[in-house]
Amino acid sequence: MHILITGGCGFIASNFVHYLLERYDYRIINLDALTYAGNPENLREFENNPRYKFIHGRIEDVKAVKKALRGVDRIVHFAAESHVDRSITNAQPFIQTNVAGTQVLLDACRQAKIDRFIHVSTDEVYGSLGDKDRFTETTPLAPNSPYAASKAASDLLVRATAKTHGLPSIITRCSNNYGPYQFPEKLIPLMITNALEDKPLPVYGDGLNVRDWIHVTDHCAALDTVLHRGIVGETYNIGGESERKNIDVVKTILRLLEKSESLITFVDDRPGHDRRYAMDIKKIKRQLKWSPAVTFEKGLELTIDWYRRNEKWWRRVKSGRYRQYYQKMYGQRLAEGKKP
Ligand code: NAD
Ligand code: TYD
Repeated sequence: MHILITGGCGFIASNFVHYLLERYDYRIINLDALTYAGNPENLREFENNPRYKFIHGRIEDVKAVKKALRGVDRIVHFAAESHVDRSITNAQPFIQTNVAGTQVLLDACRQAKIDRFIHVSTDEVYGSLGDKDRFTETTPLAPNSPYAASKAASDLLVRATAKTHGLPSIITRCSNNYGPYQFPEKLIPLMITNALEDKPLPVYGDGLNVRDWIHVTDHCAALDTVLHRGIVGETYNIGGESERKNIDVVKTILRLLEKSESLITFVDDRPGHDRRYAMDIKKIKRQLKWSPAVTFEKGLELTIDWYRRNEKWWRRVKSGRYRQYYQKMYGQRLAEGKKP
């Protein structure tokens, strides 16, 4: 099989490229724009692998997309602007990539008569939950951040292309991922690397927001299942069945790293901060026989171990432009932050 991965140099997709190349003899093409989040180092070991090809380009670029689609059977579409806080500062790149870019891909895939379009989406399209309930695949879309709205829009464009033009597509919606190669703007890698540097850990609001965590290899295994056995036209929720409050995640990281809780700093909340996400994953379990295998405690240990062993990787990522981002996002808030 010939598979196009978009955004392959990012966190989840680079794990997925590793996953596929290690398990199958497929040919993989990776189309990535190399934004701040795209890091070719994540796939360096495959550079000379004849089954792997990298194309530097944007998914909004019709020419680049057409070139990347030559001979391709299936596409797994990951490329996106993915960070909620950045979407609050500036929503434009989210509309450009997540909405306009997805439509370019859909049109090109239709013309290329592609065999399967797997659209990688998120639980955030469903909005926020109270203490009870979980998101099912039929929960109405109610996105609250510009990021979530742009992903919901892309989901609807996939649906429309499938219904109108018959593109054989499947949508997956996954909960919060963590694991190797995650950019240290997201909660878990930010907290691990800050703690390793003995820097303050900025916890938003009261720290009681809940996320449903999944180790990235479980997400990859779920996507592998969907790629091979998913039913065209379906949407599948994917989750780790590991709900945790942010403050508990942060305290567990500090305990595993043997660092003091005095590093915790409560800072001004994120505007429109979703309170709780939790996935009902009965459908994928029943229909495709997939279940998460990595417990949160084990996954966190593995992740901490990876960041300890790959200090060079994250120190390089945290230099340069990242410093400006960090200062803008956290400088003032940390100066006014409160200790527990
Ligand atoms: P990421 O931010 O780590 O990586 C995004 C990748 O896409 C980067 O390599 C970047 O260079 C590339 N990219 C961005 N704009 C592009 C463009 N216009 N053209 C081509 N490439 C472009 O993202 P991630 O966290 O790995 O998320 C990957 C996908 O999974 C996204 O679609 C995201 O919405 C979805 N998702 C993420 C999570 C999560 O917890 N991180 C959870 C559920 C779903
Ligand atoms: P994040 O990793 O940005 O994922 P998402 O917002 O897409 O779920 O954030 C996870 C949770 O952690 C979310 O409730 C916001 C919170 N958070 C902090 O408290 N401090 C931080 O510095 C970051 C980045 C996130």
